[in-house]
Amino acid sequence: MKKWYAVIGDPVSHSKSPSMHEAWFGENGIDASYIPVHVPAGTVGEAVAALRRLGASGWNVTVPHKQAIIPYLDEVDPLAAEMQAVNTVKVLPDGRLIGMNTDGPGFVRSLEERIGQSLREEPVLIIGAGGAANGIALAMKQAGYGKISVCNRTVEKAEALCRRIGGEALGLEEAADRLGEFGIIIQTTPVGMSTATGGLPIALDKLVRRTVVADIVYSPLYTDFLKAAMNNGNVIVDGLGMFIWQGALAFHEWTGKMPDTLGTRKRLIAEMEE
Ligand code: ATR
Repeated sequence: MKKWYAVIGDPVSHSKSPSMHEAWFGENGIDASYIPVHVPAGTVGEAVAALRRLGASGWNVTVPHKQAIIPYLDEVDPLAAEMQAVNTVKVLPDGRLIGMNTDGPGFVRSLEERIGQSLREEPVLIIGAGGAANGIALAMKQAGYGKISVCNRTVEKAEALCRRIGGEALGLEEAADRLGEFGIIIQTTPVGMSTATGGLPIALDKLVRRTVVADIVYSPLYTDFLKAAMNNGNVIVDGLGMFIWQGALAFHEWTGKMPDTLGTRKRLIAEMEE
């Protein structure tokens, strides 16, 4: 029987995951499809029961269900449990549902696809302390990045994250003042998204050229933050890689195959330019 996969969320119609995964199934000779399923907040339990009953082989989970889905799964892997957030569900042959999180590891893979592993000793600054920042901070720590600092508008949230990962919490102004200390800076707030007004979450006057600058926003591909870093001559990592790699790691969990991430990047950029 043909296998099928899904992404559940609200909103979900704009998601690039269905076309990305369907292209990967085709490239890997796998007879499967992947559909977006609109699941409003508060109904994720019913959605999981339906997906189970209808025989989905796995699915991705997006806003607003990443935490809410956890009680409806049979097991949650250690990283997803620590984050209290699931973005990928795998259905085992016996029907059990396993929750995982490939968002943070996806960021690390996209960063290292671009710059290799040579900066693992460098101090890292994460801007923002929400769900995305938490996942990235944990994954960076697991990957062996040493000193991690987190700055946030609400400094208490940076402090709470730093207690979990053993990092240093900063206010936005202090971080802006100390930018020259960091080998990698990762922007995780929605500032710069096309739905936001653009602009910078922190001042970049003290950015030094040797620092690698990453943003997890991918629409637009080049946020004001990345543009400022580019104009300064810094190596940049845009957010499209994280999106592709979170999907690629999910695809690998489901199929045992690793898709062509760089080819996917070219295709998605061509689609975005259309
Ligand atoms: P996500 O799950 O995508 O990370 P989130 O949990 O809502 O989303 O977190 C959003 C992050 O962006 C938070 O760190 C937030 O800062 P606060 O904790 O102070 O709210 C940050 N953020 C959102 N808008 C911002 C802005 N205009 N300037 C600076 N930081 C902002």
